[in-house]
Amino acid sequence: MEIIKYQFQHHGDARGQLAVLEEGKEFPFPAKRIYYIYGTQPGIARGFHAHKALDQVLICIHGSCKILLDNGREKTTVELNDPAEGLLVGHGVWHEMHDFTQDAILLVLASDFYQESDYIRDYDTFLAFMGVDKQ
Ligand code: TYD
Repeated sequence: MEIIKYQFQHHGDARGQLAVLEEGKEFPFPAKRIYYIYGTQPGIARGFHAHKALDQVLICIHGSCKILLDNGREKTTVELNDPAEGLLVGHGVWHEMHDFTQDAILLVLASDFYQESDYIRDYDTFLAFMGVDKQ
């Protein structure tokens, strides 16, 4: 399946690095909500859901983790380890986060406020939502 990544502006100099992302340039929607995942315990995986309408951009601003993306027909895994790069997780994509390093901080820009009703947390319900027949 298609992977959409965004490369942020880099303003590094002898002092260090500075990354910038502006709405409409380096990410595609107004971010109504920002959250971050950190202190993830060894061996723990998160996510295991899809969203009906919410779009998100994931940025691993420290450490690394792997994101499994699944549109019901195809799956792919993307490693995030660059603080100046974002990964789009659009609506209708089942996603799982795996293999967090102990120092990983995963920053998420979300297109809307938190609404539990937007979550699909059951995989068979996700396949039905996507109009995919169960194998
Ligand atoms: P959860 O959906 O389990 O996180 P993940 O996608 O990483 O597996 O969310 C953990 C808890 O936090 C759950 O009780 C819902 C709550 N939560 C909010 O209240 N607001 C938010 O923006 C998010 C992302 C989660």
